[in-house]
Amino acid sequence: MTKKLNIGLIGYGFMGRTHSNAYNQVNHFFDVPYKPVLKVVCGLEEKVAKDFAEQWGYKSYTTDWHKVIEDDDIDQVDICVPNNMHAEIAIAAAKAGKNIICEKPLALNGPQAEKMVDAIEKAGVANLVSFNYRRVPAVTLAKMLIDEGRLGKIFHYRANFLQDWTISANVPQGGMATWRLDVKAAGSGVTGDLLAHCIDTAMWQNGQISSVCAMTETFVKKRMHVDTGKLEDVGIDDACTFLCRFDNESLGNFESTRYARGHKALYTFEINGEKASIAWDLHDLHRLSYFDHSDESIVRGWRSVHVTDGDMPYMNKWWVPGLQIGYEHTFIHQVADFLESLAKGEPASPSFREALSTQYVCDAVLASAKDKEWKTVKKA
Ligand SMILES: NC(=O)c1ccc[n+]([C@@H]2O[C@H](COP(=O)([O-])OP(=O)(O)OC[C@H]3O[C@@H](n4cnc5c(N)ncnc54)[C@H](O)[C@@H]3O)[C@@H](O)[C@H]2O)c1
Repeated sequence: MTKKLNIGLIGYGFMGRTHSNAYNQVNHFFDVPYKPVLKVVCGLEEKVAKDFAEQWGYKSYTTDWHKVIEDDDIDQVDICVPNNMHAEIAIAAAKAGKNIICEKPLALNGPQAEKMVDAIEKAGVANLVSFNYRRVPAVTLAKMLIDEGRLGKIFHYRANFLQDWTISANVPQGGMATWRLDVKAAGSGVTGDLLAHCIDTAMWQNGQISSVCAMTETFVKKRMHVDTGKLEDVGIDDACTFLCRFDNESLGNFESTRYARGHKALYTFEINGEKASIAWDLHDLHRLSYFDHSDESIVRGWRSVHVTDGDMPYMNKWWVPGLQIGYEHTFIHQVADFLESLAKGEPASPSFREALSTQYVCDAVLASAKDKEWKTVKKA
């Protein structure tokens, strides 16, 4: 028997679309015990909310997120709004006893994230933070290979997330499309927006990060603010590079920027172990590069594994071997895993508490860059 689960989505932008698509698709491909019902969508502009509701199949719409929380019919609140609104909505949703899926980064900073974790754990509600790259089949396969011990002792973890969309000084800050450049709405720049993804994946695959040493730069110091029309100081980091140590003694090297001309969303990672290495690239997301030192030397080399076979993570739910899937599927996998954990009464991952660990790393990175010294990372 499939039980209905009434969804209230807050935020109809980029992530609102990926999450709505996931709710609409999940039962077509995954045999999960719940059927999400798109009950209400909330966004700032009434006309856009109304059109969104029609296009994606929501039964109603509102411009006031409190109404979503107060609605007894809503089982699950899905938070897809700018970062500065996550905490207030999540805490209210927890108090109202709703399941919560929240977009990343969890909060503006660690202390705010701690309040969210407290509220969620006190209320005992199901929760998940949307670090969706974990659910690219090739990334999940990398985690499986590491857990099976195929890499042996891990020495190095390096990750990049490179973009180029804010190079022009004419890009404003604030407002709807460019809230990511306004520190009050975003909390930080590339650290919370992009490195948070790399950090989440890295700690999932390779264990906790214990200390960091970072540098950041804000290349464009003043930008016009959409709300005031005036040139104002830019408070976010445009670029961030950090070194780190993991609890397992491996060394990490992370870089993110929005100033790497030619790169739109180049998320890559490489992991070097005693016995084997793994590399992955978001632009070629269905492939995993794998080097196994135990191969016979005359044929030893980097393999490019096409992650489409039925025995690879998630792939038996999709087409036939050789046919690949893409970005939107990571969100469908996320919802499928969440519904499965709900049915089993088990915590979903990454939980708010796990996302707090990532937030602590981000905080330590920003503090290290500011104070120009190594920082120890707080444990969640
Ligand atoms: N998982 C990922 O890979 C990923 C990718 C992009 C964004 N994100 C995260 O998702 C969140 C949303 O980002 P986005 O790119 O979808 O943003 P967006 O600008 O496309 O959409 C933001 C939405 O928030 C709504 N909103 C803003 N203020 C509101 C208010 N007071 N009440 C109700 N609605 C309000 C807007 O109407 C809009 O629909 C952010 O936290 C971001 O970091 C995650």
